This record gives sequence, structure tokens and C-alpha cells, in this order.
Amino acid sequence: MNQIRWDDGGAYERSMGRWSRLVGDVFLDWLDPPTGRRWVDVGCGNGAFTELVMQRCAPAEVQALDPSEGQLAFARTRPGAAGAMFRQGDALALPFDEDSFDIAVMALVIFFVPEPARGVAEMARVARPGGEVVAYAWNFTAGGFPYEPIQAELRAMGFKPPLPPHVAVATPAGLSRLWTDAGLQDVTTQEITVHRAWPDFDAFWNDTTVSGALATLIGSLPPEQLATLRAQVAARLQRPDGRIAYDSLATAIRGRVPG
Ligand SMILES: C[S@@+](CC[C@H](N)C(=O)[O-])C[C@H]1O[C@@H](n2cnc3c(N)ncnc32)[C@H](O)[C@@H]1O
Repeated sequence: MNQIRWDDGGAYERSMGRWSRLVGDVFLDWLDPPTGRRWVDVGCGNGAFTELVMQRCAPAEVQALDPSEGQLAFARTRPGAAGAMFRQGDALALPFDEDSFDIAVMALVIFFVPEPARGVAEMARVARPGGEVVAYAWNFTAGGFPYEPIQAELRAMGFKPPLPPHVAVATPAGLSRLWTDAGLQDVTTQEITVHRAWPDFDAFWNDTTVSGALATLIGSLPPEQLATLRAQVAARLQRPDGRIAYDSLATAIRGRVPG
């Protein structure tokens, strides 16, 4: 399977969860949601963004769902996410009635959903008239994916590194089209750049290749190719003091349910 997937919430946290929280913080500054709202967090994964909502937004209710039990098991143990309701579920069939929420959110999920337009329509269905449908997604097309430095070197070595199925929708134009086509109003987007640093190459490598399809591909490389890949990535990213530091780029979007 040529897709990025995670079933281990702890490994996800080191690899992608910390990136998600960095974007999520800026996203919530931009969204500036009122307190006391009812949220649904679609594709909550290990609860990285759910925890931010609990900590920053004083919500009246948070329903969070994801297909991966491994991710949900980690989410349920997050002290900062206590009070959120986690359950197994799919973005294409949200187990909620119409008009159940004030805010429906997908954090780093839309590019995984088999039919992105149906996923947005589902969020619009369960949000109340006047409520908001919001999301953030890596801008793969602009090179914003956090794994891009490794993936670029893999491509240079002739490999086809794993990507989610719908990376093309995750641009400002692509998301705007999805939101507008779903009938959402006052649609606006925002580019979010986040920065992450590690004290040395091994710390970066261990966090970034800890699990998932990219780790599987890297784990299958013969030792010489692995050494080449590590050297190429280090040449691309490493600072003179040995630290690794770089930026990733996400697109945020918001739109209002008519009525
Ligand atoms: C990159 S993770 C994001 C997790 C979390 N929202 C965060 O911000 O860290 C993507 C998540 O999308 C979930 N996912 C994949 N397909 C999905 C679908 N059809 N419906 C809902 N979630 C899905 C995956 O299980 C995974 O937990």
C-alpha cells in the first residue's frame, strides 16, 4: 500500500502529532472561536488537535472520531483531552444528526478521506446553520509536508515515497473549491508556516521515521542505500552546529453553513 497510515498513537505523536499541534495553535489564533461551543473533530487521530480545543476553547462539548483504534487508545489517555468523547468512525458517515455542532473540524485529514467532497458535505450536514466548517491540511503541492525533505531525497534515489491519496486538494485554491462547492459561505483561507528543530540528526531521524509507510519503506532499504539517504537528508537539513531545523507549510480554511 502506497499510503501513509498510523496505528500507533505514541509513535504518531513523535512523528506528526507535534507538527499538528504547532499548526493547530496558529490555526486557533486565526479562527478565534468563541467559548462554550459544540465541536466535532473528524479524524481526531491520537487527539493532538482535540487536546488543543479542550485546553484553549472551553468547549461545551467535543465529539471526536477516527477509524484507527490504535490512535483512539492513545487519545483517551491524554490528560489534556479529558472530557472529549472519542469513538471509532468515518468522515463519510458521521454518526450524528443534522445541526448537532457549532464547529466541525478536520485537522490534517481531508487528504486521506476517500471522497473529500463528501467529507466536507458531511461536516456541513452535522454543523448548524450559521456554524463553521473548518480545517487545516499540509500544502503538499508547495512542498509543505513535514516529510518532504526525506521524500525529496527518496525521489532523487528513484523511489516513489508514500503519500495520502488526495494531496492535490490541500492547496488554498483546492480547499476553497471544495468548501464553496459544498455550499459554505464566507470561505477564507490562511497559509500557516511552522518551524520545528531537533538537537541533532539522530533525534530528527528517530522521531520522523518511527512508524507508518515511510518508516516501512526506509526499513526495507539495504544498508548502503539507507546510509546514502541519511547522508543526503543531512546535507539538505543539517545546520553547522549539528542541529536540524526546518519549516512546514499548511493551508487553513473556514466557511459558514448558510442560514
Ligand atoms: C495525520 S492524522 C491527523 C490526526 C489528528 N487530527 C491530528 O491533528 O494530529 C490523519 C488521521 O485521519 C484519519 N483518517 C483516515 N481516513 C479517515 C476517514 N475516512 N475518516 C476519518 N478519519 C480518517 C487517520 O486514521 C488519522 O488518524
